[in-house]
Amino acid sequence: MKLFDVYPLFDIAIERGKGCRVWDEKGQEYLDLYGGHAVISVGHCHPHYVEAMTQQLNKLGFYSNSVQNPLQKELAERLGKVSGYEDYQLFLINSGAEANENALKLASFYNGRTRVLSMEKAFHGRTSLAVEATNNPKIIAPINANGHVTYLPINDIEPWRRELEKGNVCAVIIECIQGVGGIRVVTKEFLQELRTLCNKFNTVLICDEIQCGYGRSGKFFAHQYFDVEPDIITVAKGICNGFPMGGVLISPKFTPVYGQLGTTFGGNHLGCAGALAVLDIIEKEKLVENAAKVGQFLIDTLKKEKEAGNLPHVVDVRGIGLMIGIELDIPYKEPRTRLIKEEHCFTGCSGTNVIRLLPPLCLSMEEAQAFIDKFKKVLGA
Ligand SMILES: Cc1ncc(COP(=O)(O)O)c(C=O)c1O
Repeated sequence: MKLFDVYPLFDIAIERGKGCRVWDEKGQEYLDLYGGHAVISVGHCHPHYVEAMTQQLNKLGFYSNSVQNPLQKELAERLGKVSGYEDYQLFLINSGAEANENALKLASFYNGRTRVLSMEKAFHGRTSLAVEATNNPKIIAPINANGHVTYLPINDIEPWRRELEKGNVCAVIIECIQGVGGIRVVTKEFLQELRTLCNKFNTVLICDEIQCGYGRSGKFFAHQYFDVEPDIITVAKGICNGFPMGGVLISPKFTPVYGQLGTTFGGNHLGCAGALAVLDIIEKEKLVENAAKVGQFLIDTLKKEKEAGNLPHVVDVRGIGLMIGIELDIPYKEPRTRLIKEEHCFTGCSGTNVIRLLPPLCLSMEEAQAFIDKFKKVLGA
């Protein structure tokens, strides 16, 4: 059997990692400003994380959701404390798409409606409802195109108001910093007005924090920059530093009903042990604060170098914390490939001309400066 060929791959196999560095099978070291697609939160192979996962695996990797799992309760308590959502409830699954799928289901169970408002350029995952809320016709199969979703522009409240006033919208789902959409940030006025409208018309506000959350923005959740509390928050990626896990944080206004949501693997012992270790490290090493500090340094320095004419082809630098978009006036393909091949540095990308930086949250100032030096070289300054 061969692999189902859906990924255009770089001809590199990554064999091991440490912190913000990875090594390929030939022993070549790379600086990782991609974090395996925003997944690595506390750094590759952090010893505390490895130890916690190893110990748990030696004890028990998995049992079912039909018995008590104290690790799930501990994770809910710790996540509530560290994120500022102690009165919310946690439902654990295995991926980001599953988190959004369950969030939308819950919203529909709650108000009985079926219409969803999503943003232009949104990405929410590839399962049925999550992909329908994703504004990319290329990945919506005919079986997923069920007419539930209306896509509206970011930061232009009037079209949202018109739709919400109809009183039939089940949920609004948004990324406060769009990832795949090219690092576009909502404004405070827009998000606050959306919150007010959702309250008025009994629409559920879902913040997809799968990429921008878990400390990446320099606050635990990106929406916390805008003084708004969503009804549902979805997380995945950084929650377990690469072990598949997702979570739905659910406001106290939702009453759980036995059997309404469920999963075989979600919240398993191994994942919970890893997620608890991730929270230990985030707190002990002050990684949210580090993301704010190093992210601001990257954004400021990139802007300064652009103004000084040292970054030809860069037309915009945007983002918050360690979620940064560098827009070019040329396709990203050549500079990104040269960063990997010549400078041994991984970055992400979006659209055709945006380089996306999504490093582990432990990126140091020296590593940030090393990236800027490599980027300048590649752009020929
Ligand atoms: C904002 C956002 N939502 C949802 C997802 C889907 O997550 P997963 O690939 O774990 O299903 C992603 C993945 O990139 C994402 O960036």
